[in-house]
Amino acid sequence: MEIVSLSKSVPEMAINGDEPPPPPYVFNKQSIFGSIDVSPPYGPFPVIDISLFSPPSSSADVHNELEKLRSALISPGCVQVIGHGISSSFLDKVSELGKQFFELPMEEKQKYARPTNQVEGYGSNMIVSENQVLDWSDRLSLSVFPEDTRNLHYWPQNPSGFREMLNEYAKKVKSVEQTLYKAIAKSLNLEENSFLKMIGERAPVRARFNFYPRCSRPDLVLGVKPHSDTGGITILLQDKDVEGLQVRIDGNWFKIAIIPDALVINLGDQMQIMSNGIFKSPLHRVVTNPEKLRMSVAVVSEAEVDKEIGAVDELVNEERPRLYKNVKNFGAVVYESYQKEQIALDTITA
Ligand code: OGA
Ligand code: NI
Repeated sequence: MEIVSLSKSVPEMAINGDEPPPPPYVFNKQSIFGSIDVSPPYGPFPVIDISLFSPPSSSADVHNELEKLRSALISPGCVQVIGHGISSSFLDKVSELGKQFFELPMEEKQKYARPTNQVEGYGSNMIVSENQVLDWSDRLSLSVFPEDTRNLHYWPQNPSGFREMLNEYAKKVKSVEQTLYKAIAKSLNLEENSFLKMIGERAPVRARFNFYPRCSRPDLVLGVKPHSDTGGITILLQDKDVEGLQVRIDGNWFKIAIIPDALVINLGDQMQIMSNGIFKSPLHRVVTNPEKLRMSVAVVSEAEVDKEIGAVDELVNEERPRLYKNVKNFGAVVYESYQKEQIALDTITA
């Protein structure tokens, strides 16, 4: 429920950068997730070459890469992938068209405005509680799969070429996503479709373009507050030039390096559930930058809403009892727990 109305949107405020940020954007330094540090050390996020997961790789190479993947997903739950076959020039085009959209005049962007209570469309924070701290960001969120769930009236016609770009990018990322779901299963010696079967053939995939305007007070304001992603896998195209994403490992924040053409992969809560807690959905956040704007594109996949997900049978045994109850419509669990300031996974422990 949208219960707060702010007089200005984030991009409008960014233009008047000298003013102090309005109180709803100021992040509480007493947060249990630690205070804001705009430049912590780089974290141990391995680079995985996913081209090795297709023939004609040698079995030793595949084995090593799967082992590297498995160990990174146990902790920190985040890797960067290369060898995905998406060309550098196409990735540039995705970023370029995304930025051009956010730079359009507000009335043009408003043509694609997200209705209150919906996730799809253009807008900033979905406001669900009165004392919620707001993110210094603007977003465009679009359903991309299954194709018959696309709502084209939210797909920008301006800048020209945006729709064609998103259609193509979604297909390419979906193929990376399938490769990853299979590799993750194989890394645990499971049948490669174990996770794909559980999320279902009509598993929804959404693309979220995140735009972070300049912010004069990065010490006080976050681009995105600490959160874990909800779904199975998130595939993120970072900004080529501007850092900002941080991941929490054992109580400390680490930043993610920009590696040209690499995609950042992090696991979501549903993968933590399906892997019976072997893999973790890491807490992450985005810091702001006083000089440069930043744009990223997250593609998130989650289980079909009506499908029950739970730990894959082979991963439950005496030493590792079931950690979470089976759950349907996990998105609703996340929404409810967010309002109660609880961690969603904590509310479904077995
Ligand atoms: C997200 C997210 C990180 C980024 O969209 O869930 O965490 O770098 N984005 O924009
Ligand atoms: Ni996220």
